[in-house]
Amino acid sequence: MVSRDMMHTSSMSFNIKNKHQYTKSFPVLDGNIPSLYKHVLDGNSSNSEICIQRYLELLAKINKGGGENAIFRHTQRNKKLLVRERLRMLLDDEFFLELSPLAGLDMPYGDVPGAGCLTGLGKICGIWCVFIANDATVKGGTIYPVAVKKQLRAQEIAIQSRLPFLYLVDSGGAFLPLQAELFPDQFHGGRIFYNEAVMSAMRLSQVAVVCGSCTAGGAYVPTMAQETAIVDKIGTMFLAGPPLVKAATGEDILPEELGGASLHSKVSGCVDHFASSEKEAYECVQNIFATLNYEIPAEDTVDYDSPLYSADELLGLAPKDYRYTLHIKLILSRMIDGSRFQEFKANYGTTLVTGFAYIEGQLVGVVANNGELTHDASLKGCHFIQLCNQRNVPILFILNTAPQTAEPVSFAQAKDHTNKLKAQASMMATVACATVPKITLVIGGCYGNESYAMCGRSFDPNFLFLWPNARIALVDSRHFPTYSQIWDDTGTELKQLKEKLEEESSAFYSSARVWDDGVILPQDSRKIIAQCLRIMKQQKYQILSPQQNPLPVIRM
Ligand code: COA
Repeated sequence: MVSRDMMHTSSMSFNIKNKHQYTKSFPVLDGNIPSLYKHVLDGNSSNSEICIQRYLELLAKINKGGGENAIFRHTQRNKKLLVRERLRMLLDDEFFLELSPLAGLDMPYGDVPGAGCLTGLGKICGIWCVFIANDATVKGGTIYPVAVKKQLRAQEIAIQSRLPFLYLVDSGGAFLPLQAELFPDQFHGGRIFYNEAVMSAMRLSQVAVVCGSCTAGGAYVPTMAQETAIVDKIGTMFLAGPPLVKAATGEDILPEELGGASLHSKVSGCVDHFASSEKEAYECVQNIFATLNYEIPAEDTVDYDSPLYSADELLGLAPKDYRYTLHIKLILSRMIDGSRFQEFKANYGTTLVTGFAYIEGQLVGVVANNGELTHDASLKGCHFIQLCNQRNVPILFILNTAPQTAEPVSFAQAKDHTNKLKAQASMMATVACATVPKITLVIGGCYGNESYAMCGRSFDPNFLFLWPNARIALVDSRHFPTYSQIWDDTGTELKQLKEKLEEESSAFYSSARVWDDGVILPQDSRKIIAQCLRIMKQQKYQILSPQQNPLPVIRM
């Protein structure tokens, strides 16, 4: 996850200042780590360092895109800018919040760096938008199954948080050898075009730039966008390219003649703006964004307090194993403004910590695991989530669920389990139906059922990030011997299964498959969560017409 703070400090409004003054009365958490736990800190720190090292190696690998030859072909022969150069030219700030950069690594069909595209959130003309930008150095920007997943997730983020969208299209269409995994099903390639129509009807603006090839399905992306620019000489759009024309009719035709910038801007009307260079196209996009009609107040930078404890110490608190988990308030005290926390039901169901805090001046409800999600903890979670929902306060779930619960050995324990099941089901229903924005941060284990109640991926959080040490699985492979009782073979097969589980549990395995929005460093968490809170808030500044049953914008 590459992300930097894009917020500038400036003057603050009186309202915000007054509001902020009230938070001064939230009690301060004690974030001092007792020396008794030094061995736990040491164990966690060395594990964090190993995980972060691996993360940085993987990032370096994906930053090479399709490799030297492909980069040469892209820039020298095809005369196109690299995808990050394009974004640098287009976005207000150099930095943006990149989503799932590790997507596509070590797939059954090989490595597809970044899934062949870059997705993320950046600002254009002061407006946050989600973008998808194909990386044509990776197999001509063709769409692999994991690329479909990554692009659908980017669209989902825009839908959930009502954000405008930008497509930088430079793609050879479907990666043909995998067409059966790309084309036929509901959430395959066609869903991208379906979403474009639905998003348009939701009045989410979508702008596209044709800055390379847009072949076959790829041609629908700019054609269905609300406003599209095409770059002369490098931008082409066609359902079937020159090789197919040759095969069908025997005719030789140049890509430019078949579907270049002049043709589409003068004859077909598939695009709306002709640009003679990439630079001109991106300036055109900036001008389009200036017409989107948002009234965003001057940067609402609040004069907030930093946490009282260093974020660097989070590396020693990021649990390498559930048994290495220290009190969650030690982590919280390193993420929230002034380490101040208005706790809710402090003495009840203490294995879940709930309460209100500010993160870079923005109010958030915190729901954080601090042990097993017991009956009382789940009921407390239900109550608190309903409070947040009624008060329209976004929720931050800090997830570190227990790998397994003890088997009941008595009738009383079995009854206890049943009660817990009922309470967890209530919490799951409350989370699923809460309409406020939700962010989930996995700081340790994301195991089995308790992760659902803590707003795991299937419960639709607006954003879900993992720390590099996170583990995602139904069961913890390191506790696996206890399952051997139900496994007949105690030899090689069990060992192999354990190894497979171990590999599949890592944060990187998850992120490669877009089961999350990216791995983030623990010390960046506060900054990224604050950014997400601001992004989710932007929708209230969109000026909407009172139109009742909106239709998509149809290209005429
Ligand atoms: N499926 C699978 N592989 C594809 C592909 C596709 N649709 N399109 C391109 N590739 C591969 C090429 O085989 C090449 O692989 P290599 O690097 O291992 O040799 C790589 O992507 C780059 O393609 P190349 O043609 O060398 O690059 P280019 O920049 O000159 O042209 C395209 C890129 C996309 C314009 C061109 O490859 C093209 O027209 N592809 C066919 C597009 C198509 O017909 N799609 C139909 C999809 S339904």
